[in-house]
Amino acid sequence: MLEMRGISKQFDAVVALRGASLKVQAGEIMALLGANGSGKSTMVKVLSGLVNPDAGTVICDGTAVRIRSASDSRRLAIAVAYQDLSLVPAMSVVDNIVMGMEPKNAFGIINRTKAREFALTYMRKLRIECGPDALVQGLMVSTQALIEIAKAIASKPKVLILDEATASLHSDEVDTLFEVLGELKREGVAIITVTHRMGEIYRVCDACTILRGGETVAAGPVKDMDLDTVVYQMTGKKPDLSGAAFHAGRAARDEGQAALLDVRGLALADKLKGVDFHAWPGEIVGIGGLDGQGQQEFLRSVLGDSTYEAGEITFRGTKVKFRQPADGVKQKLGFISGDRNRESIFPVRPVAENIYAGEVTAKSDFSPLRPRTVFDFAGKAVERYNIITGGLAQPASSLSGGNQQKLVIGRWMALTPDLLLLDDPTKGVDVSTRAEIHRILKECTQAGMCALYSSSDNEELLAISDRIYVFYEGRISACLRGEERSEERLVAAMLGLV
Ligand SMILES: Nc1ncnc2c1ncn2[C@@H]1O[C@H](COP(=O)(O)OP(=O)(O)OP(=O)(O)O)[C@@H](O)[C@H]1O
Ligand SMILES: [Mg+2]
Repeated sequence: MLEMRGISKQFDAVVALRGASLKVQAGEIMALLGANGSGKSTMVKVLSGLVNPDAGTVICDGTAVRIRSASDSRRLAIAVAYQDLSLVPAMSVVDNIVMGMEPKNAFGIINRTKAREFALTYMRKLRIECGPDALVQGLMVSTQALIEIAKAIASKPKVLILDEATASLHSDEVDTLFEVLGELKREGVAIITVTHRMGEIYRVCDACTILRGGETVAAGPVKDMDLDTVVYQMTGKKPDLSGAAFHAGRAARDEGQAALLDVRGLALADKLKGVDFHAWPGEIVGIGGLDGQGQQEFLRSVLGDSTYEAGEITFRGTKVKFRQPADGVKQKLGFISGDRNRESIFPVRPVAENIYAGEVTAKSDFSPLRPRTVFDFAGKAVERYNIITGGLAQPASSLSGGNQQKLVIGRWMALTPDLLLLDDPTKGVDVSTRAEIHRILKECTQAGMCALYSSSDNEELLAISDRIYVFYEGRISACLRGEERSEERLVAAMLGLV
């Protein structure tokens, strides 16, 4: 159905693809896998006409085709849901979904009623629950991701490509998406999906293609490839995902010790309805729940980025109310967000400055920055987190999605905070780096740091947390510890069944 052969692409000094290839059949779901920076998104962009390859051919239904622009790609009925989303934030949900496919009358005037109906069909299919007239910019990241998918599906593609579409989705949303993909597959659509959530490959994919350093190193039916093989092909190394890295260590907490963070009766409009939450030094406290149950508001209240209406926050024995995140940072609070597009990356500034940005906030003096200091500091983080860059002076926007996320993690971990708030921090980070980040986090907590770790990925939450607070409709529905930390209990608490 669709085949890419010998695709090469170089961006300045960075070789993104070296003769990579892939093949996908109609009615097949193919996983495109590889570590961060291995070239997956670049392959996708070649198919959507956003990147012109230096060499190679694309073959569609047996004929070589030229994809030079987005319209060439559309003509071939290829649709992409992008990793960094292609939505227009200041436009409504309906307008975003119908963009480029507006139903028009004979005079070329858009039929609003039809447009709305059309968009609603796809919103219902994916169970997107926001208002059709809401502006995209005010919506939760996961809702935006679903709209990005709706938009791609609405064009009735023959080839549907999802670039990390599930990275910010919660388990119920992933289930709905997989039902829809199953339907499309039966209708004969060829589907390529890029993901770092390994469980998904075995749930829905028929075949997989693995890239390493811009080359295709393996391809074939999923049933012939176990997880160890997949990780081995991605990294070129024997996987070290077992043992310490993937299983929660013992809680280093000493029962008699005072809590580092003590939150009581936290309330914020209809988002938080009296949350009690305690965390001790040396713990990784998981925060679970379906999307929008108050987790984000809770983390932001602790950070000083949202003004809660009632309740008390005690940090290191002192009652605090940070008015802005910078106040918290000066008290050794750190914050890592998975929403890098909106709040973590300064895209046009160099990689080095992006990494150093946290250090600047933590220091209260106005001493001039020495480039040497910035570069040394950044160089260490790049090495430790294995961030693939074309150089420290390159703009942050030139990094692949997962590498941008690693940059944000490196920025905050380097500050050795006492309390680190993480909001879906490993979104888009590949499995082996994710294990490495978990390892570093455990090291830091063993040295006395406390981490609050919110994740949309249940598997990750169970693997990393010593205890898990589950949010449901603005309240804590359960706190799972020890043996209680099981997938079944977590899901039950997420649905408010306990
Ligand atoms: N526009 C660009 N300018 C410069 N370098 C780029 C550009 N786009 C991609 N690259 C580089 O090409 C390489 C491959 O990037 P790509 O985005 O395809 O990776 P990926 O496999 O999608 O990674 P991830 O899992 O992190 O999303 C990376 O090293 C990246 O920094
Ligand atoms: Mg990518």
